[in-house]
Amino acid sequence: MSNARIGLVGLAVMGANLALNIAEKGFPVAVYNRTTTRINDFVAQAGNLAKNLVPCETPAALVASLPRPRAIIIMVKAGAAVDAVIKQLEPMLDPGDMIIDAGNANFHDTRRREAVLRKAGLSFLGMGVSGGEEGARHGPSIMVGGLSESYDEIRDIVEAIAAKYQGDPCAAHLGPDGAGHFVKTVHNGIEYADMQMIAEVYGILRDGSGREAAAIGALFRRWNKGPLKSYLVEISAKVLTTPDPETGKPIVDVIVDRAGQKGTGRWTVIEALGLGQSASTIEAAVGARSWSAAKDMRLAGQAVFSDLEKDEDGTSGLSDEDLENALLAAKTIAYAQGFSLLNAASEEFDWSLDMGRVAEIWREGCIIRSAMLDDMAAAARTGLPHGQLIFAPEFAAKLVATSGALRRVVAHAALLGLPAPAFSAALAYFDTMRRGRGSTDLIQAQRDFFGAHGFERTDGGADHHGPWAGTD
Ligand code: 6PG
Repeated sequence: MSNARIGLVGLAVMGANLALNIAEKGFPVAVYNRTTTRINDFVAQAGNLAKNLVPCETPAALVASLPRPRAIIIMVKAGAAVDAVIKQLEPMLDPGDMIIDAGNANFHDTRRREAVLRKAGLSFLGMGVSGGEEGARHGPSIMVGGLSESYDEIRDIVEAIAAKYQGDPCAAHLGPDGAGHFVKTVHNGIEYADMQMIAEVYGILRDGSGREAAAIGALFRRWNKGPLKSYLVEISAKVLTTPDPETGKPIVDVIVDRAGQKGTGRWTVIEALGLGQSASTIEAAVGARSWSAAKDMRLAGQAVFSDLEKDEDGTSGLSDEDLENALLAAKTIAYAQGFSLLNAASEEFDWSLDMGRVAEIWREGCIIRSAMLDDMAAAARTGLPHGQLIFAPEFAAKLVATSGALRRVVAHAALLGLPAPAFSAALAYFDTMRRGRGSTDLIQAQRDFFGAHGFERTDGGADHHGPWAGTD
């Protein structure tokens, strides 16, 4: 009996919402979850949409309810659980059938799974889905990797459930095997940097000028009407103006400053370093979350160094406009590092990633959606000089206009003793990229001095050595 168009395994929040989204767009979807009560509850609560849901109590029933070639989405915890579901399904599938992993998988796992399943005659798509619970339910941004022929078989469903930017679905097949999950990972890395930068502005205003949460929220709401318009600025404004129902205090004042992380930010940094890059703004954001976990250590540090705290003056001379421009500059640099990493991976893995399309499908639905992305898509379509967004004429001009503010904010934060690691990393990157002559000539000399590693000379030729023999 084949009465569903597509199957879905895993009815936790993201899977359940994705299934409802598919059902709502008119595609009958067979659903299976490890615990049967969850399947029954889910269908019972689906209201009208239940007519497009085919509850299946076993994986075999799910497979039997699908027409061939079958397509089954799995939305379970990344890692071993994905392999376990694949192992369960594989023996029941026929050549040409397809498994689609819609979780936040590490792209190395996706490449491995795709190769193994291809050998077994099955197709495998790695599908990054961004937009949180709401996105999954009403329109996420969807980044797909795998064979394009396989994608074509489910493209109508994916485009129907995706967010739309002026009618254009925010979904695309981006390349083979792990390309979709890699782009999703970098999306999350940029998300980390963006969140950290917004949090740094909040910290500077709260601890540097004693501004209340609600006032900072009001400022963010205003910024969200200008060039900083973005989902993350919008929700930050909402969070900062929300009171705690129990105490009446701003809710941020009762939230412990210890941030969690599930790993995609860290993966971005690891991949960047592996590719000879440095996504330093993202690294700063990952590091800041890691340090945030060491609350006891920070409290101990506060006691040891408390005398230093008020050494410098307040935020005099630092305007809200400076903070707005600093955030614009730093965000641009974070996105630029993300795109530069995508470029490097595309070359390394031969993916031919279309940067313009990546930026386009991030314009709606995903967590990093922002007004800037439309301009970024246009810049990427024209071609990024040296693969660098910051060299695209429009962004170069914006950085010329805003980098002074970034410098002032970093300097003020430093003088006030307030940490601004992502802003500082952005500024250091910008200053590095605008100096034709850096200081690594000395590093080359040091390497040659102690290890005879050789150096290039400015007047030509490689593998020269210095005259330092016997000078120590
Ligand atoms: C998205 C989010 C989503 C999830 C992150 C959170 O694009 O919808 O990025 O994937 O919220 O995994 O990651 P952390 O728990 O590491 O912050």
